[in-house]
Parts: sequence; C-alpha cells; structure tokens
Amino acid sequence: MRISDPRIVARLRELEVELRPGATLAGLTSLGIGGTTDLLRIRKYESIPELLNLLDANHIPHKFLGGGSNLLIRDGELPWVVLQLVCPEPDIVLEGNFAHVDAAADLGRTVTFCAKHDLGGMEGLIGVPGTVGGALRMNAGAYGMQIGSYVREVKLYRAADRKIEILRGHQISFEYRHTSFAPDDMMLAVTLELPSKPFKEILEGIRICNEKRRASQPLGQKSAGCIFKNPPGASAGRMIDELGLKGLSVGDARVSDRHANFFVNAGRASAKEMLALISDVRDRVRKAYGVTLENEVVVWNA
Ligand code: EPU
Repeated sequence: MRISDPRIVARLRELEVELRPGATLAGLTSLGIGGTTDLLRIRKYESIPELLNLLDANHIPHKFLGGGSNLLIRDGELPWVVLQLVCPEPDIVLEGNFAHVDAAADLGRTVTFCAKHDLGGMEGLIGVPGTVGGALRMNAGAYGMQIGSYVREVKLYRAADRKIEILRGHQISFEYRHTSFAPDDMMLAVTLELPSKPFKEILEGIRICNEKRRASQPLGQKSAGCIFKNPPGASAGRMIDELGLKGLSVGDARVSDRHANFFVNAGRASAKEMLALISDVRDRVRKAYGVTLENEVVVWNA
C-alpha cells in the first residue's frame, strides 16, 4: 500500500515519522520472505496516538513490525503499511538491578550489556534473534527461562484506549509463548529486574547455551526459529523428526535437517511455499499423533 496524498506525507514529516516508500519486507525478516509496502519509521513515541489517528482517518490499515524474527509475511504488494520504531540512543539504561530497555533494542545486545554490568538471568535468551519488544510480546524463552519472569513494568501503546500506558508486571500474564497483551498493543519500553551475578558466571551460562543451540539449531540459515509451539508435554521438533520429515520441501521452503521444528528458506522461498509446507507438516502430525500443532510463527497473510 502506498501513501501518496501530499497532505499525509507532510503530516508524517511533522510527526517525525520517516516514510520509506515501497520497502521490501523480505529484507526485514529473518526468514527473508515478504512483499512490499510503505514503511513508516517512528522516532518519537509521543507521536504514535496522533499517527494512528491520521492513518485511521485516511483508511490506511497498518501492522506493527518488531525485529521480524518470528514472522512470516505474505508475498506481493501488501494491503497495509508497516510501522516500526527507530531504536533511540541509549536504548538501555541501568539503575541498580533494574534495566530500562527500549522495545526496539536488540535482545542479544541487551543480554550481553546487562551481563557486563553483572546482571544475569537472561543467559538462555542469548541466541534468540529479534528485539526486546518482540520477545516481550510473545514471552520468548529458552533453556528453562522466559523473559516474562523479569518484567516489572511495560510502557505500551494501547490501541483499545488510543493512548500510551504503563502496566506493572502483575497486571500482565506471561504464559508459554503467550502474553495477555492485545494483538494491536504496541510495546514501547520495558523495565526488567535482573539478579546480580558476576560477569564471569553469566558468561559461562551464555557459553553453555550457545553451545547447545549451535549443536541443535540451524543458526546460519534463514528461519523464524521454531515454527510450531510445543504441545503440552511434547516436542513438536521430535514429532516431526520421528515422521521422517527432515528435508521435506515445497520449493525452497524446507524442514531443517538439523532441527525439525525449524523451517528454512533455502533460497528464494515464497510465503506461499512456506505456508504450504507448514500446512502439510501440520496435517501429517495430526494424522499420525492426533495432535494439531499451533503456530508459534506469526503469519501476516491477510
Ligand atoms: N528433537 C529431535 N529432533 C529434532 C528436534 C528435536 O528428536 O529435529 C528432540 C531433541 O533431541 C530433544 C527434544 O526433541 O530430546 C527437545 O528438543 P530441543 O531441546 O531442541 O527443544 P525444543 O522443544 O524442540 C524448545 C523451544 C526452542 C528453544 C529450545 C531450547 C519451542 C517451540 N521451542 O525447542 O525455542 O530454543 O527449546 O530451550 O518452545 C523458538 O521458540 O523459536 C525456539 C527455537
């Protein structure tokens, strides 16, 4: 979708929103899949309510993009524009055991920055790509920890109330790869409370998690991490592997040879191919195990 009305373009400039016309979203996702649309980069949180009023008043649908690491975007010219926060400087401010982190901050950088200041707890998240806001929204986790355990406060744009609000940790529920945020809530910043730990000890935890990840996940390839959530008490990766589906392909969309719950873009996979592969694997698992796997990957297919 293209914004061409000069009055809207001028208003965006006033709101300090950078308009990138015809951006290719494949370049903004870890899967390397996605069509084209106008990208609106937001420099000031305070302008968000007005920006969304402007888009609504002009019937311009929008979606909000974080780090693009758990996302499958459809092909072609997209019928909505995409909003993205520009990461401010500094993006992490420490205050005792509290880390105030911007939603657009890189998750891995946040883990290492805090580690260097003797704040630990998040070692398991070290190899997880994406932004802190994205991790927060889906309660990202690995190796027995999840980000939600450390959240004390979240600043967000609440689409339902059309304003920026602050929620305390106890007002948010964090479950396995799920939170109580509404789908159109926009994460802006988070305060984490992290346990004090010597840097050396945190580094050793990070090293162990990195090794485990390297041994079991296709890190060098384009993927969105695990495609499916694990069903209660089971591993989707193991089930898919047991069915002998590693290497199964639709075009360039392929079930990883290394971890069967990672589907990789082995070349120029389209969203259509990736969706067909997801659907095929889900059907096969349903037939074999009677379990319907739920997507972990977020799909923008509308
Ligand atoms: N397994 C296989 N074949 C495979 C993959 C896994 O047999 O192709 C077996 C493993 O040998 C192991 C069991 O399945 O016995 C579990 O595998 P793994 O330890 O890799 O964990 P997972 O349940 O597949 C989860 C998360 C990962 C996270 C790891 C480590 C989900 C959907 N996945 O994977 O998170 O990194 O544990 O904590 O919860 C993600 O969410 O995108 C993600 C990568």
